[in-house]
Amino acid sequence: LSVEPASLADIAGSLARRVGREIHRLRAAGVDVAATKSSLTDVVTAADREAERLLTAGLTELRPDDGILGEEGASIAGTTGITWVVDPIDGTVNYLYDLPSYAVSVAATVTDGAPGTMSDGRRAIAGAVYVPVTDELFTASAGGGAYRNGVRLQGPADTELATTLLGTGFGYTVERRTEQIEVLREVVPRVRDIRRMGSAATDLCLVAAGALDAFYERGLQPWDYAAGALVAREAGVDVRGLGTNAPGEEMLIAGTPAIAAELAQLIAGTYGRLEAPR
Ligand code: IPD
Repeated sequence: LSVEPASLADIAGSLARRVGREIHRLRAAGVDVAATKSSLTDVVTAADREAERLLTAGLTELRPDDGILGEEGASIAGTTGITWVVDPIDGTVNYLYDLPSYAVSVAATVTDGAPGTMSDGRRAIAGAVYVPVTDELFTASAGGGAYRNGVRLQGPADTELATTLLGTGFGYTVERRTEQIEVLREVVPRVRDIRRMGSAATDLCLVAAGALDAFYERGLQPWDYAAGALVAREAGVDVRGLGTNAPGEEMLIAGTPAIAAELAQLIAGTYGRLEAPR
C-alpha cells in the first residue's frame, strides 16, 4: 500500500468526530424510527441515514478511489484495495432513547489475509470510534497502537474470570437472543457482572481502555466490529473467535489472553450442548 495506516487513522478520526458531533446535535431535535430491519429492535433513524451520507461524502472527497461499505447500504467498489467499513450510528437503539452509549465507527480495511483478518475476510489497518456524549475519540492503526483522545491504551489488567466485568450484546433475532440466554446461564454465575450497554464498537474500545475486562457477542456485522476490534487489538487485547475460526460474525471474544481463552471454552461448551443432536 502506498499509504501509511496512521494517516488513514487520522482521516477516520476526524471524520468520525465531525459526523458524531453532527448526530449529537441532531439528537436534540428528537428522533423517530424511520424503518425497522431484521426485527422491531433493529431500527434505523433519519440520523443513521444522514450520518452515512456525510461519511460517504467525506471519504469520497478525501479518498476518491477507495471502496466504502456502510451499515445503511453504502456500497462502492473502489480500485485501491482499501475499503472503508462504516457504521454511522453503532447503538442506534440507545440513540433513539437518548442513552449515552452510541458511536460513529469508521475503519479502513484490506483483504490481504495477514494476521488480524476477521471472518469476513477483511483486516482493519486503521480505525476510529467516536462517542459523542462523552467526547471520546478512540483511534488505532495497525502496528501503531490504540489511543483515547491521544492517550495510549493498554487493555485491561490481568484478572480472574470471577472478577471479570464482561460486556456483551444480544443480537436482534429471536434465535440469537434465545441462544444468548443459554450462554448467559453458564457465564453470569462465573463472572463479576455483565454489562449490555448497546454499542459493540464502544464496548470493544472500553476493553481497550480497561473499563471492561472482556466482551463477547455472536452475530455482529463487519461495521459493528471493524474499528473497535482494531482498537482493542492495538491495545494488546486478545481478539478471537471460537476454535480455529477467526473472530467476526460467528463469535467475537475480546479480553486478556487468559480470560479470552476461558470464555471461549465456556461459550463453546454451551454451543456444543445447544447444537448437539437431541
Ligand atoms: C448493534 C450494537 C449492539 C449489538 C448489536 C449491533 P447497531 O449495532 O452494536 O450493541 O448488540 O448486535 O447490531 O445496529 O446499533 O449499529
